[in-house]
Amino acid sequence: MRVGVLTGGGDCPGLNAVLRAVTRKGISVHQHEIIGFRNGWLGPVEDLTTPLTLDSVEDILNRGGTILGSSRTNPYKVEDGVGRLKAVLQRHRIDALIAIGGEDTLGVAEQLFAEGVPVVGVPKTIDNDLDATDYTFGFDTAVHIATEAIDRLRTTAESHHRALVVEVMGRHAGWIALHSGLAGGANVILVPEQPFSVEKVCDWVERRFQRQYAPIIVVAEGAVPEGGEAILATGERDAFGHVRLGGVGNWLADEISRRTGKESRAVVLGHVQRGGTPTAYDRVLATRFGLHAIDAVTDGDFGTMVALRGTEIVRVPLRDATASLKTVPVERYAEAEVLFG
Ligand code: F6P
Repeated sequence: MRVGVLTGGGDCPGLNAVLRAVTRKGISVHQHEIIGFRNGWLGPVEDLTTPLTLDSVEDILNRGGTILGSSRTNPYKVEDGVGRLKAVLQRHRIDALIAIGGEDTLGVAEQLFAEGVPVVGVPKTIDNDLDATDYTFGFDTAVHIATEAIDRLRTTAESHHRALVVEVMGRHAGWIALHSGLAGGANVILVPEQPFSVEKVCDWVERRFQRQYAPIIVVAEGAVPEGGEAILATGERDAFGHVRLGGVGNWLADEISRRTGKESRAVVLGHVQRGGTPTAYDRVLATRFGLHAIDAVTDGDFGTMVALRGTEIVRVPLRDATASLKTVPVERYAEAEVLFG
């Protein structure tokens, strides 16, 4: 078989581990040829390919980013995008496509499958917000990076008796905020799922100062103050209609200073959370996803996505991958809330 593979959407530590596993098992065990499409869905639309060989995936297991490049291209928003994509697949005699991505990339994969394109999906996002899998790779790395940042910020916050607000990624789901906040012992954790009261945040901040410790507040970029709206970095939307979030950390630090009279600073972790080498957990999960994805292709089990359920890798329908987002349940947030202040 000739198998195409692409990585779409925001990059994520572990993508190269998937590519390596797909290529190694695809070539050595199944005798497939593996063709990489560059820059997400732009690759099959504009005929940007690169062969993936045993040599080209040598030494990439621990490398962050993706050797194929990525983009947020939506072929359904490009003029004759799907027609061009199908023609390119035909020209390269592609028998199957593996799409590695989050809800947007997999949403396109699902639509293409409905139009007869043989696709298998692999879930990826540092946000861990895909409901059909227990975990996505990249999340563990992002949580480690954010936790290390909290540990470092704590010592400087305490030296200067300041409140430090740490803004982490998480557009609709607060998993990175919740896990890094718990792991780093944050005094307040704010997630997009629960609108927050600035007054209550300030009470917790003051309580913490009373105990002679400086508070750390972890806030997801998509968190919203009660009665307010998400704070945007710019008004632009990408090809999937997403706005660019960012700014809640600085806004909240200013509010805390104004209301409590305590000095506050904000740190926006941004893309640092997506960069660099994946943790061992992410390398293992990404590798297992890759090994199972190439098996699904070989079995002709198209329209499916590999997913983690407990400790097993299973196949689920692609439509389940995008049906609903996995957000932080109220009771999980309540579990953490007892430690605030
Ligand atoms: O991949 C998802 C995500 O990490 C979101 O949390 C964030 O809003 C977005 O990516 C930002 O990505 P970019 O700046 O690459 O568009």
